[in-house]
Amino acid sequence: MKIAMVGSGYVGLVSGACFADFGHDVVCIDKDQGKIDSLRAGVMPIYEPGLAELVAGNVKAGRLSFSTDLAASIEGAQAIFIAVGTPSRRGDGHADLSYVYAVAQEVAAELKTPAVVVTKSTVPVGTGDEVERIIRESGTGVKFAVVSNPEFLREGAAISDFKRPDRIVIGAEDDWARTVMNEVYRPLFLNKAPILFTSRRSSELIKYAANAFLATKITFINEMADLCEKVGGDVQDVARGIGLDGRIGSKFLHAGPGYGGSCFPKDTLALLKTAEDYNSPLRIVEAVAKVNDSRKRAMGRKVIEALAEAGAGEARGKRIALLGLTFKPNTDDMRDAPSIAIVQTLMDAGAEVVAYDPEGMELAAPLMPGVTMATNTYEAVKGADAVVLVTEWDAFRALDLDRVKQLAAQPILVDLRNIYDPVEAREKGFHYSSVGRP
Ligand code: UDX
Repeated sequence: MKIAMVGSGYVGLVSGACFADFGHDVVCIDKDQGKIDSLRAGVMPIYEPGLAELVAGNVKAGRLSFSTDLAASIEGAQAIFIAVGTPSRRGDGHADLSYVYAVAQEVAAELKTPAVVVTKSTVPVGTGDEVERIIRESGTGVKFAVVSNPEFLREGAAISDFKRPDRIVIGAEDDWARTVMNEVYRPLFLNKAPILFTSRRSSELIKYAANAFLATKITFINEMADLCEKVGGDVQDVARGIGLDGRIGSKFLHAGPGYGGSCFPKDTLALLKTAEDYNSPLRIVEAVAKVNDSRKRAMGRKVIEALAEAGAGEARGKRIALLGLTFKPNTDDMRDAPSIAIVQTLMDAGAEVVAYDPEGMELAAPLMPGVTMATNTYEAVKGADAVVLVTEWDAFRALDLDRVKQLAAQPILVDLRNIYDPVEAREKGFHYSSVGRP
């Protein structure tokens, strides 16, 4: 089956490479000539474990190619995926659909063979109707259908998430579209991935509802962590104790510095905008977005408090080492990373910040002018008055704490991901604080 993937960003590239790996004939399209050139040369525009190898293997096998020529690439494709960005619109927080609609217009103008147009980008409810209207009103005589097929993959685990999804959601309005989509996903049925057919609008809503619910879970446990700190509980025990209840589930209950990334912050905001437009307020999601936003700076204040509690005095003039800058491990993505607000808070208080991240420093540097980027973990720690663990990269999970203590100016460790055992860290002589643990 021939598949065209319009947009070679995170979702487009991973989905395209995985579809090719399953045996489909895939062409990934992008307007950015530089991106296409480097993909052809085997250089990935993003850091995602396993992606370069997957792309190389499928290019070699002749199943995957890259192009800037949309017209030629969609010819003969039974499925044309739209996987372009839907960033927050400047000013109002609605999803910016201009890229999606531009693709719809171009597809409409160039369509020569029957195709199902599939929206994989995260789009507000009703977008599929608009894409359909654009194609229909272009006057194309070619048979087409418009389908919603949201993508649930996580950065850093994108390939395995795509290949072994919890479910596949297809929002389609006619049988032909459902048949084509069955064909597209048939290779995944071997893994027993449940496929859920819904209306197009329900499918569009499922993506936002899923993200908002997960953001709610994280925010709930984060506030529980705050309460644990006040009353002397351990949030990890609380999370385990509630998570073992099958109705709640144990995932996404890790307390931390707040969620970031390319999806949760933007999608919760866009969902709230939709709710506002339809006069159907989502008050829980409103609270989640607000609480998460203020949490990021609060984590900076937590570091300042840790200095004071350890008797190191105020933050002014102190050297603070941040370990991890990306919003989560195994990505170089800095979008809405809590580290940005943490750095700002520390610098506002007059501290000097030095940081190290295994993959994120290049994208982080322009977002945090004034921060010194270290060449490795122990370089960052050298002379630090406090060491702050911001992202749980594997490389930070087994630090040589004796060496950290020896290199640092003061033994103050703030662990925002609860990686270390408080008893052990204190035994090693650290003033240790974490999130929601005694
Ligand atoms: C998310 C969704 O998981 C995915 O289904 C969707 O397609 C895109 O958005 P992603 O943003 O890549 O994926 O990362 P995810 O692993 O979900 O983490 C998001 C944020 O939540 C990170 O900042 C992470 O640190 C935080 N998080 C996650 C927690 O703080 N605690 C948790 O228990 C889980």
